[in-house]
Amino acid sequence: MSSYEARFRVWRGDTDGGDLQDFSVEVNDGEVVLDIIHRIQSGQAGDLAVRWNCKAGKCGSCSAEINGRPRLMCMTRMSVFDRDETITVTPLRAFPVIRDLVTDVTFNYTKAREVPAFVPPEGVKAGDYRMQQVDVERSQEFRKCIECFLCQDTCHVVRDHEENKAAFAGPRFLMRVAELDMHPLDAASESGLDRKATAQEEHGLGYCNITKCCTEVCPEHIKITDNALIPLKERAVDRKYDPLVWLGNRIRRREAP
Ligand code: SF4
Ligand code: SF4
Ligand code: FES
Repeated sequence: MSSYEARFRVWRGDTDGGDLQDFSVEVNDGEVVLDIIHRIQSGQAGDLAVRWNCKAGKCGSCSAEINGRPRLMCMTRMSVFDRDETITVTPLRAFPVIRDLVTDVTFNYTKAREVPAFVPPEGVKAGDYRMQQVDVERSQEFRKCIECFLCQDTCHVVRDHEENKAAFAGPRFLMRVAELDMHPLDAASESGLDRKATAQEEHGLGYCNITKCCTEVCPEHIKITDNALIPLKERAVDRKYDPLVWLGNRIRRREAP
């Protein structure tokens, strides 16, 4: 087994501010960035705050920015860096820092709660749901999400624009709206909920200009932009410009008391 000393710069601080701190730390074959952060924590900075859980790329809690790129620390191998490169680890930039590498991701839970849940079809028991395999596979891709929020962190709509957060759900939750809107058994429209309209009006779909940055950082390789956001935009626009839908809306408006 070979080992070497790597140079690390880790952001230390809290809500009042902070700075990068330098460390020289041993690296062994096969290690990932989270191993090195843990070695720093055990030997040089016992109070270094870091959130992690599974160390297997499945819990989504070790998200951070490594050399400026949003990544999972437990899935970033040290072998992808040159041995003489200084590796900088900073907290997710789009969310407020609590301490060191730990951020407050409440924004995401708030946005999750704003997406109305699946509406079961009336008169069909849960065990009797039947779907085409193609529909199952579409949802399954979106359901691979581990809620690491790297896509939310990287999206420029909120990354540098705190003021957009109120009106924009972010790629992860627009993907959830898309999943439900494409779900063949979702009975939201029968209950008066128009998911396409809410995508535009309440979840800020129009802010997304399909740059695909969210897709590039997703550790589950979900094609967020191509398979969720662009189809959702197409569905929402189709509906808006479909002459029959337009006529129907006018008639409904006229009939309204
Ligand atoms: S594709 Fe849309 S949601 Fe994804 S990063 Fe770009 S603007 Fe944000
Ligand atoms: S869509 Fe991908 S990047 Fe976004 S939260 Fe889910 S797993 Fe993470
Ligand atoms: S520790 Fe669970 S995803 Fe990294």
